[in-house]
Amino acid sequence: MSLIWELKRIDQCTPEDVLAFCKLRTDVFFLEQAITEEEIDSHDSHPATEHIWCRDGQTTVGYVRVVRQDSAPPDDHGISTSIGRLVVHPEYRRQGIARELMDRAVAVCGSEDVILHAQTYIRDFYENCGFQPVGEVFDEAGIPHIRMVKRAGS
Ligand SMILES: CC(C)(COP(=O)(O)OP(=O)(O)OC[C@H]1O[C@@H](n2cnc3c(N)ncnc32)[C@H](O)[C@@H]1OP(=O)(O)O)[C@@H](O)C(=O)NCCC(=O)NCCS
Repeated sequence: MSLIWELKRIDQCTPEDVLAFCKLRTDVFFLEQAITEEEIDSHDSHPATEHIWCRDGQTTVGYVRVVRQDSAPPDDHGISTSIGRLVVHPEYRRQGIARELMDRAVAVCGSEDVILHAQTYIRDFYENCGFQPVGEVFDEAGIPHIRMVKRAGS
């Protein structure tokens, strides 16, 4: 398999790019995981958000985004840079693609502290990517989550 990797801010994306990664996200989060909360949000169009995805020919295989907020949400430990919306197409799972997406996202974050909201079933995976759990498990979109942080330089 030869994947093509993309890293773009919204003003660099074509309409086809946006449709492709939004389709993968909604296919997985809406249809597979039955999440009924907002999926496409204001972070997607923020000029500082980095969209990272890969494709196999015309198939969008995986996606993750790096969000930089103007101020940190109160519950996110003062950290304004986050990684989220990690998804891999069901037919391409368990081949290391999520790990590659995370490695690229962490590289984009550079020397910043980074936070993510992990679905608890995948917590060990994020620990292997260098993130440590902080705080208690909480409900987000009807799914148990835990905040996980990667401190600069760790
Ligand atoms: C979670 C997800 C992104 C993993 O993608 P992937 O490309 O299959 O992951 P990788 O192949 O890089 O897996 C790396 C490691 O993650 C862990 N992992 C992957 N899928 C897992 C699962 N379903 N349950 C538990 N651990 C899992 C394993 O440790 C795995 O290593 P291994 O294959 O050597 O056992 C993918 O299953 C997905 O899109 N799920 C639905 C959306 C979702 O839950 N996103 C996470 C939001 S926080």
